[in-house]
Amino acid sequence: MTKAIVFYDSRYGNTETVARAIMEGMKKGGIEDVLLASMKTADEEDFRGRDLWVIGSPTHWGSATFRLKTLLVNAMKDEGKDKRAAVFDTRYKGMSRGASGKISSLLETYGIPLVTEPMAFYVESGGSSLASGEAEKAQAYGAEIAGRSR
Ligand SMILES: Cc1cc2nc3c(=O)[nH]c(=O)nc-3n(C[C@H](O)[C@H](O)[C@H](O)COP(=O)(O)O)c2cc1C
Repeated sequence: MTKAIVFYDSRYGNTETVARAIMEGMKKGGIEDVLLASMKTADEEDFRGRDLWVIGSPTHWGSATFRLKTLLVNAMKDEGKDKRAAVFDTRYKGMSRGASGKISSLLETYGIPLVTEPMAFYVESGGSSLASGEAEKAQAYGAEIAGRSR
């Protein structure tokens, strides 16, 4: 049975909203055991025994947050064998680059394959709220991850 973690960072709450919606979609898609782990409280232990890692970050200066990358690398050093992953980010509408590219490269370095393409979720300029339709898109992405993880 797949045991999953949705590990995310979020400064203003948009990435957290997306992470929750992805988790709901994964559960609807048939993965019952999904740990939602915020960077604010997570540690390497949270990854232990979980074989599907869904990682998301706000885009900061074209990359993921430094603290998310640091914890992810430590988790991969401890627990990175025989895992699969999916990656998402939030970014300003219209931006072609985001945090998910950087997270994907890190995962690749440690030999963790993606089950599906990285996904960007857009926030309105100013970063105050998700663009319309993005929460629904996140649920669908979660269901897609579940479908590809069986
Ligand atoms: C310090 C900082 C740097 C940012 N850099 C970028 C960027 O390079 N590209 C981009 O699309 N959005 C950028 N943004 C916008 C954030 O990606 C956006 O506000 C984020 O998705 C909000 O996520 P959160 O509510 O989970 O913190 C930046 C925001 C902050 C605060």
